[in-house]
Amino acid sequence: MRLVEVALGERSYPIYIGQNMWHEIPQYWAERVKPGKLLLVSDETVFPLYGGQMIDGLQQAGFAVHLAVVPAGEGSKTLARAEQLYGAAIEAGLERRDLIVALGGGVVGDLAGFVAATYLRGVTFAQVPTTLLAQVDSSVGGKTAVNHSLGKNLIGAFYQPKLVWVELDTLLTLPRREYLAGAAEVIKYGVILSEALLKLLAARWQDFLAKEPELLTAVVGDCCALKAAVVTADEREEGLRAILNFGHTLGHALEAATSYSYYLHGEAVLAGMAMAVKLALGKGILQREEAAMLLELFDRVGLVPPPEALLAADVLAALKHDKKREAGRTVFILPEAIGKVRAFDDLEPEAVRQVLGSYLSGVSAGGLLRLTD
Ligand SMILES: NC(=O)c1ccc[n+]([C@@H]2O[C@H](COP(=O)([O-])OP(=O)(O)OC[C@H]3O[C@@H](n4cnc5c(N)ncnc54)[C@H](O)[C@@H]3O)[C@@H](O)[C@H]2O)c1
Ligand SMILES: [Zn+2]
Repeated sequence: MRLVEVALGERSYPIYIGQNMWHEIPQYWAERVKPGKLLLVSDETVFPLYGGQMIDGLQQAGFAVHLAVVPAGEGSKTLARAEQLYGAAIEAGLERRDLIVALGGGVVGDLAGFVAATYLRGVTFAQVPTTLLAQVDSSVGGKTAVNHSLGKNLIGAFYQPKLVWVELDTLLTLPRREYLAGAAEVIKYGVILSEALLKLLAARWQDFLAKEPELLTAVVGDCCALKAAVVTADEREEGLRAILNFGHTLGHALEAATSYSYYLHGEAVLAGMAMAVKLALGKGILQREEAAMLLELFDRVGLVPPPEALLAADVLAALKHDKKREAGRTVFILPEAIGKVRAFDDLEPEAVRQVLGSYLSGVSAGGLLRLTD
């Protein structure tokens, strides 16, 4: 088992990462959280797979477990669903020192975290992330949210959990497409902060695809440690945390322009990262050799071709609505080297248009996008 600490003063918490740790739940959880009432929130796909082991461990730790299972998918991140969970918490008699646990991907984590942050002005919260994306990204850092019909993640709170329990065995049932989408976020950490992590992934990509246990512990652990360091330095995204948005400026615009129904988040981010690399190359801030290595790795993950009807104008319009814009300017995080990025708000609109155009038209008859030309 690997332990990563998120250092936030009295709100510090541990992330436990390892394989087949179900039997260790009683010891570690009871150490961190006083056993009492507990509301376990999961979704209809994850609960049948791992609910039993989770409940066994929690009951052995001394918790009285109550259940709330929501439909799988982004559609559950709503205030209406949150209200249902408040009802479940009230009916279970949850008090402020009691616990809400999220067992699932980022959807369940964001929803249950938001309910934990707001029910009784905040009850104790723990995360058991079961997608690669949730394990390396959404369960670390304390962002919780639900969606509004006018936009994603618009209603939420910064609220840190008391512990995060990363059971890597859950990845064995994760569909390949979801795993690769999570891999995009893993690669993101390498590009923005760690040349060593990126080189490890590039060298052992096949083992990573095969979910080789020791490699997964190392990679997921490194990602959590890297994100933890960024969150420690900038908990509320006032500065440094923005580097985590590498690939996300154009990625979010692709998602928004396709009504969040075509790409998985990581797939859009991968395309966004490819375009950011190309922008950095065009600006002359990234060496050709490094750009080529990155684009080759992105190709191995598998860039998703855009939907046929997608127009550059629609993506550019979505870019203008990006909530991360500052003073009306779109901010791009671009790599200067592998492991080093910087924010730019002065990109030529024409350069952005060109790179986007090459992505939108660059995929022919099943071929992968080559941005190295
Ligand atoms: N809070 C943050 O900092 C943060 C960061 C990134 C993303 N997010 C949010 O995370 C959400 C996306 O998370 P996600 O990609 O985990 O999606 P998800 O929670 O919808 O999970 C993806 C799918 O995989 C299924 N699944 C989950 N674990 C499984 C397993 N072990 N085996 C088989 N199937 C499994 C789920 O039921 C779901 O159908 C978005 O709502 C996004 O806004 C939040
Ligand atoms: Zn992301």
